[in-house]
Amino acid sequence: MAEPPPWLWDLPLINLYSTDIVGYMYDVPFVATPEVVVRRMLQLARVRSGEVVYDLGSGDGRIVIIAAKEFGARAFGVEIRKDLYEQSMARIKDLGLADRATIINASFYDVPLTDADVVTMYLLTTVNERLKPKLEKELRPGTRVVTHDFEVPGWRPVVVEEVYEEWRSHKLFLYKIPGKEIPIPGKMVDLNDKWLRQVAELVDGVRSLEEIAAKLGVTIRQVREAVEELRKLGVVEEVKIIK
Ligand SMILES: C[S@@+](CC[C@H](N)C(=O)[O-])C[C@H]1O[C@@H](n2cnc3c(N)ncnc32)[C@H](O)[C@@H]1O
Repeated sequence: MAEPPPWLWDLPLINLYSTDIVGYMYDVPFVATPEVVVRRMLQLARVRSGEVVYDLGSGDGRIVIIAAKEFGARAFGVEIRKDLYEQSMARIKDLGLADRATIINASFYDVPLTDADVVTMYLLTTVNERLKPKLEKELRPGTRVVTHDFEVPGWRPVVVEEVYEEWRSHKLFLYKIPGKEIPIPGKMVDLNDKWLRQVAELVDGVRSLEEIAAKLGVTIRQVREAVEELRKLGVVEEVKIIK
């Protein structure tokens, strides 16, 4: 069967927006990012399989769903509105994505983001400003943040891009949390596991997790998990975070 035209998908959302009285009770009303723009946001952030993605204010869950379905991410949405939470969880279950995608019915100010590799936001500049101290405190170096239309005041974007979609253009901002996570070598141990050995050989107290990941062609998350195992074995003493 042919795909429905994209405007059909957006129609109830436009209607919902124009009558979205309940949305105005919160920081930001519900307006959906067009799917073509969602895909570009996730491409810009270079989301890779197994990475953890958070969409703050997830609306109908489309960013979470596309991140899980098309990019293989472990995707979380945080949505304050119960109706949108229920609607998006129902869709996730219908699509059989419940093992990789979930929506948290809470305020994004209250949800820890320490395990994020990528954060997406379609909020407002004032809200981004309010979220900024939390993001700076919790996100690890190398985490990518993509915002739709509204920047994070005071942060310098790595990329600013305009995406044209049917009736208007959308501005995307890509940020990268500065700093490095450097694993410090500990004691020498004979390692049987080839993957752990590969990572251990690159741990020299100078290279960051990001550099090791780039050298091995894997994600920072995969290296981080390996380094955590190496730390338990004593091969890595600690991971220094330099901001
Ligand atoms: C502009 S919509 C974006 C929806 C979705 N992220 C997208 O891009 O399609 C913003 C969403 O944030 C939600 N929201 C507003 N304040 C929130 C808060 N404090 N915590 C969680 N969600 C919130 C709104 O209910 C709304 O669904």
